[in-house]
Amino acid sequence: MTSTMASRTSTRSRGDGEKYTVLLPTYNERENLPLIVWLLVKYFGESGYDYEIIVIDDGSPDGTLEVAEQLQKIYGEDKILLRPRAKKLGLGTAYIHGIKHATGSFIFIMDADLSHHPKFIPEFIEKQKEGDYDLVSGTRYQGDGGVYGWDLRRKLIRNKRHLNHGCINQCRGANFVTQVLLRPGASDLTGSFRLYKRKVLEGLIERCVSKGYVFQMEMIIRARQLDYSIGEVPISFVDRVYGESKLGGNEIVSFLKGLLTLFATT
Ligand code: GDD
Ligand code: MN
Repeated sequence: MTSTMASRTSTRSRGDGEKYTVLLPTYNERENLPLIVWLLVKYFGESGYDYEIIVIDDGSPDGTLEVAEQLQKIYGEDKILLRPRAKKLGLGTAYIHGIKHATGSFIFIMDADLSHHPKFIPEFIEKQKEGDYDLVSGTRYQGDGGVYGWDLRRKLIRNKRHLNHGCINQCRGANFVTQVLLRPGASDLTGSFRLYKRKVLEGLIERCVSKGYVFQMEMIIRARQLDYSIGEVPISFVDRVYGESKLGGNEIVSFLKGLLTLFATT
């Protein structure tokens, strides 16, 4: 008993007083939010790092915010912070809005649809400490990383339904084109499961001009340009089960425009 207590205490001190803020943007994630929050609480709790979760809901018509309010009652106002906006204003600005309220010295950004599993959180933190990296990026294209939840046919054949359904193949293509053009020095450019030093994220967000699909990529390319150090952690990306991807065909057009802009300006 005593030894369990002791080991628990030593685990709890592992955070060294560091606090981690998770920015969780949501749009119609009523079914996913309770589970992602439960998993975050579980993995942060087990690893002993101090944390807060900021939910940035953009007026989801499915009642995501009401679910978030319930979760706040369950886990406490110090752990779950709600920073809603009145309407859907896009992912990039959701991060800008969320970071203003963050009290952690490190910031995680991740999707709320369970595509990004909180079990990887301790690995991000350990990787960051290992090299004192400015940012750690989850990668689907290195080590044990990968993409799951798609049958072979959908992986091989691109059809319209496919294009509207998510960004897995687009991401792979986008990633490849960008690797060739810009040589950014990171293997997963469009992925958005990342850990940043807070100051680094603030600085990068200020510099980034794109707001849509290309935003994650611009962040990492500018990070490299500014000589920030980048660590990578292999992650599995599971396509969402509930709800639909909010990134559609139009996003691909703006992605290409954004890519050209980056190519011309960086
Ligand atoms: N607050 C807010 N406002 N949240 C939003 C908005 C918005 O306008 N649009 C989307 N979200 C939230 C979703 O609820 C989800 O938690 C997260 O942002 C990602 O949205 P998805 O709709 O699940 O995106 P995706 O799966 O197509 O694309 C994801 O993977 C790509 C790489 O494969 C995103 O992470 C992309 O950034 C990434 O490039
Ligand atoms: Mn998704």
